[in-house]
Amino acid sequence: MRIADAATSSFSPLSELRQNSAATSQSGHRAFGSDPTMKNSNPPDGTARSQIRNIRIDQLRNYRLPLPGIVSILHRVSGMLLFLFLPLVLWLFDLSLSSESSFDRLAQLSQNWVTRVVLLGLSWALLHHLCAGVRFLLLDLHLGADRVAALRSSVAVFAVSLSLTLVLALYVFGAL
Ligand code: HEM
Repeated sequence: MRIADAATSSFSPLSELRQNSAATSQSGHRAFGSDPTMKNSNPPDGTARSQIRNIRIDQLRNYRLPLPGIVSILHRVSGMLLFLFLPLVLWLFDLSLSSESSFDRLAQLSQNWVTRVVLLGLSWALLHHLCAGVRFLLLDLHLGADRVAALRSSVAVFAVSLSLTLVLALYVFGAL
């Protein structure tokens, strides 16, 4: 998970630690002295570098992952799903193009609700991965990396990807 996302929490043990940390700035980017491999990495103002540690196992129950953190984890999950289901997508694509009879087979398959649910899940994965991916690329350009903007953009990722998935679901199940 990106530091900007992990640090965009109003309350979590991890963000609490980071708020007090000289190593992480307001935007969540690692600042001077954050690299433990650097020699003499204390900040230039003479203050000692505060320690960043992972949360303990017993803190997990109370740890509330912030929304940008959820976007981040789902980006990884959706990327993995897209990758793992690539053979299925390619096979379906092949069926659609190979011959008239293979197209009929695809049409038959698409009547099955399990196929529809799987394809809908993959459509969500692609939409979430696309929206979150664009958000990450913008963050990489330091655009919208502060706390409020990062929270807003993660809401936007869910709003766009979920509403488009809903429209698709209505279409696939014949309600549109
Ligand atoms: C649709 C356009 C896409 C965009 C804009 C996009 C964007 C991105 C970005 C920016 C990352 C890096 C995230 C990071 O730095 O943590 C990433 C990771 C990844 N992408 Fe995509 N991607 C797209 C499509 C796909 C597709 C089609 C697949 C799979 C077939 C895929 C699979 C992955 C995987 C597995 C990762 C690594 C995830 C991780 O380890 O967190 N992506 N993508």
